[in-house]
Amino acid sequence: MKNTFYITVPIYYANAGPHVGSAYTTIAADILARWHRLQGKEVFFLTGTDEHGQKIQEEAEKSGKSPKEFVDEIAKEFQQAFKLLNISNDNFIRTTNKFHEKEVKEILQELYDKKYIYKGFYEAYYCVGCEQYKTESELVDGKCPLHKTIPELRKEESYLFKLSAFQDKLLNLIKTGKFNILPKNRRKEIITFIESGLKDISISRLKEKVSWGIELPFDKKYTTFVWVDAFWNYLTGLKEKKVFDKFWPANLQIMAKDIIRVHATIWPALLLATGNKLPETLFVHGYFTINGEKMSKSLGNIISPFYLVERYGVDSLRYFLIRNIPFGDDGDFSESTLIERHNNELANKLGNLVSRLSTLAEKYGIEKSNSKIKIDETYKKVSAYFNNYELDKALAEIFSFIDKINEFLQKSKPWETHDKKVLYEAASAIKNISILLSPFLPETAEKIAKTFNFNISLDELNNQLKISRIKKSDILFKKI
Ligand code: MSP
Repeated sequence: MKNTFYITVPIYYANAGPHVGSAYTTIAADILARWHRLQGKEVFFLTGTDEHGQKIQEEAEKSGKSPKEFVDEIAKEFQQAFKLLNISNDNFIRTTNKFHEKEVKEILQELYDKKYIYKGFYEAYYCVGCEQYKTESELVDGKCPLHKTIPELRKEESYLFKLSAFQDKLLNLIKTGKFNILPKNRRKEIITFIESGLKDISISRLKEKVSWGIELPFDKKYTTFVWVDAFWNYLTGLKEKKVFDKFWPANLQIMAKDIIRVHATIWPALLLATGNKLPETLFVHGYFTINGEKMSKSLGNIISPFYLVERYGVDSLRYFLIRNIPFGDDGDFSESTLIERHNNELANKLGNLVSRLSTLAEKYGIEKSNSKIKIDETYKKVSAYFNNYELDKALAEIFSFIDKINEFLQKSKPWETHDKKVLYEAASAIKNISILLSPFLPETAEKIAKTFNFNISLDELNNQLKISRIKKSDILFKKI
């Protein structure tokens, strides 16, 4: 069996800095990447920035910077944010990178030589906010439902990609699960969408209109549609590190519903047309609002991960985002709920437990004993939840084990009995649960491991906790 795992997130548009939405997808993927590493797999986790296209060209113009200066700054912001969020990515791909651009030109030429790209006339609605073509059925009152803007009608001579040629093949691959789309309701939606008919799409813009893009190698008057360029990141991100053969095809690609249609049609069609294997699974998570409203510049409610981490700490943010929104469903982000969960679940349950137990262990010491609080069932359940992408449930299961440790202490009252065996049993249980918690809250798990002297690895789940001198831990979560 393949012991590698390749996971990707969308590369984010470099028209604006990171926000809590891009943080959400990246944190979820990071948790999955860390979980698979814990299982002993060799993991490659890719993220990056999508830096070409009309939207970015326009934003750069507004800010009075050259597009290159503009995207350099934004890419840096994303990199800083991901570092702050403790994202364990193995590469950060930028589509303005020369290696990427060269690879994209090569596949464009290949598609043209194979006659999958041809010159024609194209007429369609285009939403610059989405950088996507829209069918009339996708518009609400003639507007893009996501950006609330009237899309441009584009009528021009253009190069087209023969997307229609892949309709039957794609339907078959999706229906047989060879190209897996999850959750199931998304898969159904995509099947209906493809059955309604795939049309060839324009993949070029006249350079005089959009110059900020990769030039078509067979016609220098044009640049290529930003999505063709962007999709290829999933391959060049590996090729750049010379690990393509080892990791391709991707095991899991995560994204929200705004971009599943293009990922379920244009993307696999490009791979089929160039003789590449398809990714195994696309997982679509929900979209969340901020206090019930869409996050947008005009509403001024965009929340920056820098602000959130500074205020609440990285693990509180990671915890809240995953615990509060069932993975796959739409949800809402509210800072007051974050504070509630931070106080009640992280500070009161986990933080207090670690602080109380380490204080007692420092005072009275610990002595080996067989722990009655078994992790096996919890481990099985958490694994099953991970296999079903139910990250919120896995986290809830972990916290119900933490409740059990708290109950055990409440019953055995080691602060009265000074029973070193009871302290050992509770510390062992904390060791075990911290290992399972580590993909979610890596910083906290490391701190707990330092306090009780164990390593974060699956082997340690089966090993007994070493006897060591334990020192009272620092406060893990300050109450807000
Ligand atoms: N550049 C394209 C993707 C190209 S991939 C080959 C793009 N970029 S984006 O910056 O708009 O990112 C969209 C993605 O950001 C969503 O699919 C989702 O993963 C994440 N999210 C952005 N806002 C979000 C929410 N409000 N809620 C959940 N996810 C959010 O599309």
